[in-house]
This record gives sequence, C-alpha cells and structure tokens, in this order.
Amino acid sequence: MATVIQRLKSDQQSELQPSKTKDQAPEICFNQADFWVNWEKVISDNCLDQLAHQGWVVIDDVFSEKALIALQQESGFIDYRAAQLTAGIRQSQIRGDNIRWIGKDCPAGSFYLQSIDALSAHLNQHLFTGIRHSEAHFACYPIGFGYQWHSDNPAGRDERVISAVFYLNDDWEAADGGALEVVDLQDCLHKLTPLANRLVVFDSNLQHQVAIAHRKRYSIATWMRRDTLVPFVE
Ligand code: OGA
Ligand code: MN
Repeated sequence: MATVIQRLKSDQQSELQPSKTKDQAPEICFNQADFWVNWEKVISDNCLDQLAHQGWVVIDDVFSEKALIALQQESGFIDYRAAQLTAGIRQSQIRGDNIRWIGKDCPAGSFYLQSIDALSAHLNQHLFTGIRHSEAHFACYPIGFGYQWHSDNPAGRDERVISAVFYLNDDWEAADGGALEVVDLQDCLHKLTPLANRLVVFDSNLQHQVAIAHRKRYSIATWMRRDTLVPFVE
C-alpha cells in the first residue's frame, strides 16, 4: 500500500518532506468536516470499559486521510521550540522533544482540537470525566531522544484528566524505537508503537515514557482538562 507521502507525490507531482518550508508545501484544502470523527462509533462500549478499568485505549485510523495529511504537513512546517520541563529547565536527557503549542496559527491543529472537544464530550457523557477544555502541542523527537517515566500531572496537580497522543510518522517500524510505554491501572506494562493515524488515549495520572527514537518522531500530545480555560499567552 502506498504511504500518504507517496500518494501525495503521485497525486500532486510534488515532493513533501517534513523538513520543507511552508513556501514549498503543496497546497491542500481542508475544513472542519475532514476532521469529524464519529466518536460514538469509534469509542465503543468495549473501549470505554477498557479506558475505565485499565486506564488506556488505542484507536487506529482515527482521522480521514486528508486530515492526517494536513496534520502531517503542519507538524513539519512549523518552528519547534525546545520543550521545557515544568521547572523551566531544559534537560534533554529527561525530555528530548521540541514542541509547539497549537493555537489559532495552526489551522489543521485547531480542527484537530475541535474534534478532541467532541471526544471529551463523549467521555464526559459515558465516563463522567468532567472535562472542560483541551490543549495540545505538536512534538518532534530528534533521533536519539525520548521522554523518561512521568505522569502528565506534575506533583500536587490534577487538572489533566485524560491524555491523548496522536502519531504522524508514516511507516513506523518497531525497530525505529520511540514506543510509548504505559503502566496501566492493573500494573501491566504496554509498549505501543507510534503508528500514523493512531490515537492513544489514557488516564493522565498513569506513569508512561517515550523510548529513545531512532527516527525523527512526530506526534501531537493532547490533554483534556477539568479546569476552566485560561487564554493562551506565548
Ligand atoms: C508527553 C508524552 C507520549 C508520546 O508529551 O507528555 O508522554 O508517545 N508523550 O509522545
Ligand atoms: Mn506524558
């Protein structure tokens, strides 16, 4: 099967490399409808049970191909800034990703977040998660970097209810490393491969880590929060 990149090449006779600048990017048109997901169907009762009892669930082939390409493109054409730990000190041996928060300047990312809001409503309805808004950033792990064991709520905090990570690399192989490793509510360890168009949804309090990536690894880290929205200031 042709990869998304290969399909784009043959469709548009143009090259798409994640490192290319915006000026060189092929134009693709997309709108909110391309990002619509029928969460009721995708997150079935079995998925809800798994999320409630084990604390995590994997959903594959989440978005339409167009939405995936739009997100892949946007993730590759933006400037990343070095991710900071909560204390504001950069320690790349603990956390090696470069990130950019999704704001109004990210059209595909904004549509993605609207879809995540619909997912939050679905979870609130079925699991009483009390989510009030969501936030997300693109992340890029350079070769040789990962993110050591952590929970997404630093000590003393609990605003993040559910974490969701969406993956953007085509053709990711187990040998490329970069697995998301999660210890679930039953104390079982799971190693999840970061496949394109895969969304991993998990309890933000679970311990997890990103294994060292042997390929540049693109993703969107997403948090559904119980607190009220504070306007984003860079
Ligand atoms: C994070 C994180 C997991 C992943 O950004 O907090 O845990 O698979 N990311 O990228
Ligand atoms: Mn995390």
